[in-house]
Amino acid sequence: MVSRSGPLNGEVSISGAKNSALKLMAACILAEGTHTLDNVPDIADVALMAGVLEAIGLEVERPAPARMVVRHEGGLQPEAPYELVERMRASTAVLGPLLATVGEARVAMPGGDDFGARPIDMHLSGLESLGATFELSHGDICGTAERLVGAEIALDYPSVGATENLLMAAVRAEGHTTILNAAREPEIADLAAFLNRMGATVLGAGTSRIDIEGVEELRAVSHSVVPDRLEVATFLAALAVSGGELVLRNTRADHIELLIERMGAMGVRISPEGDGLWAMCRGRPHATSLVTLPYPGLATDFLPLLVAVLCVADGTSFATENVFAGRFGYVGELARMGARITVEDHHLVIEGVESLSGAPVRAPDIRAGAALLVAGLCAEGTTEVHGGEHIDRGYEAIHDKLTALGAHVERLET
Ligand code: EPU
Repeated sequence: MVSRSGPLNGEVSISGAKNSALKLMAACILAEGTHTLDNVPDIADVALMAGVLEAIGLEVERPAPARMVVRHEGGLQPEAPYELVERMRASTAVLGPLLATVGEARVAMPGGDDFGARPIDMHLSGLESLGATFELSHGDICGTAERLVGAEIALDYPSVGATENLLMAAVRAEGHTTILNAAREPEIADLAAFLNRMGATVLGAGTSRIDIEGVEELRAVSHSVVPDRLEVATFLAALAVSGGELVLRNTRADHIELLIERMGAMGVRISPEGDGLWAMCRGRPHATSLVTLPYPGLATDFLPLLVAVLCVADGTSFATENVFAGRFGYVGELARMGARITVEDHHLVIEGVESLSGAPVRAPDIRAGAALLVAGLCAEGTTEVHGGEHIDRGYEAIHDKLTALGAHVERLET
């Protein structure tokens, strides 16, 4: 439950990135021994991925906050059960590492979700180029690979998940692999850094061409997860609708250059400070235009948060979603709070209003849930955000962090 709050002030520490931590956890399958991951967020999706690894035969412990130890003593069961994959699509990240180490993988075929159909055809065809074969049996994708052999793979689209799966398979394939039109997200570079530390030879991660020289063995190592740029966007959006002055610790300004520029256009002043960012906002946000694109473009995950801000901006804004065409489930919920948004295909026209009005709303997914929280911070009265379990999938103690900054957020247990 969130009520209209005054300006937000103070310091907040940003957690490690969910979308990196989940893939680093999957990469632990690639080497026997004890892996230590730091800056791992305490969120529901990380717990689900721990369940996937345990089902496969690894041991996962959380000996200290933000630390995770993954023990791999061999004897893996190459199977990710439906109950877990159905709850978290990122479980498909075990496909590449399992094929590379065990030569077999059985992973439930992920269905559609709130963003519409989300196929994994590029993961599969890329792995086929490395020598894997797949068949669909009783809803599971069953992959086998007697040996993986390096190849040149040109992706039709820079898919994050496909790039990661191919990277994790190619590090143990025989010979050289080149991934062309690779995704360039900071989380890909983080995965490559982890793999290189394990003994892999990955060059060019973070650019659209990645070259990998396969090695026979990798070793368990320690690594710290890159900060979560999506959590940064969430606090900046909260600041934009509430006003105030924040310091965001443990962030990487170089990972959010376009976000900083777009938020600047909306009236938020942001500068790098120490290991983080200083940000200040006074007055009503300015209307602007937003277009999502693969990194280094504006992330699709930022859009619901920024649209929540533009709902109360001083004019008409335009937004285009290019990554997940069906990702507008939150628009109807914002409309229930008085937002004036028109959807035209994959475009939004947002007419800023002076104020939103609190209402019961339902979070259809993680970022949409966070966007509704942001909208609630500037809405008159009280907003009840149902479906809070979606928010828990990606955010560590968001209500505590917001409350510490002066927001009125209460968690209701249901
Ligand atoms: N696509 C295909 N075929 C494929 C793979 C992708 O058609 O084989 C399409 C998708 O349907 C989509 C587009 O390509 O239209 C982009 O998908 P991508 O593979 O890049 O996304 P993803 O790996 O499934 C990750 C994040 C998402 C984030 C997207 C885009 C994780 C666990 N998830 O998903 O994060 O929105 O990249 O940046 O890393 C979130 O954290 O809330 C979240 C949804």
